Amino acid sequence: MPELMAHVLEPNAQVYWRSVGWIIDFEGEHELRPETEEEWLAVENAAFVVAEAGNLLMMDGRALDDGSWMTMSQALIDIGRRAIEVAEARDEQAVFDVGAEMYFVCTQCHATYALETLRPSDDRAQESDPGS
Ligand code: HEC
Repeated sequence: MPELMAHVLEPNAQVYWRSVGWIIDFEGEHELRPETEEEWLAVENAAFVVAEAGNLLMMDGRALDDGSWMTMSQALIDIGRRAIEVAEARDEQAVFDVGAEMYFVCTQCHATYALETLRPSDDRAQESDPGS
């Protein structure tokens, strides 16, 4: 489970979260968005991995129970599919919004099954922060 989270979910969710946004620095406000076809494809691919990871979480041996674990893993699949759709539509605003919802799905499951990862003092929690 830690490997699946750290090597599959985290890096791909980060690609998705970092693809669109706004950065404010001394020179003003910059918009962050995929510029090339290749960059958009990377966003689509990342969304695809997040969706598939939901299936991996439901597999025997990984699933922690038959109830809310399954519901939350399904929620990850659903948000991953929407993430693919909006990336395919090249809709930056929707990528940003779906990214926020994706973060909520991650956090909701962690709040139930891995509370320690949400403590501000835990490095792992900071890694999951889309703003970092
Ligand atoms: C269905 C439940 C579930 C969902 C959904 C989920 N996680 Fe997790 N996650 C866990 C559990 C359980 C752990 C604790 C694993 C352990 O250490 O045993 C964890 C731990 C982690 C960790 C710490 C891994 C480590 O180094 O130990 C990271 C990072 C993480 N998740 C990222 C994510 C991201 C990003 C998402 C969403 C894109 C996500 N998770 C969605 C259940 C979930």
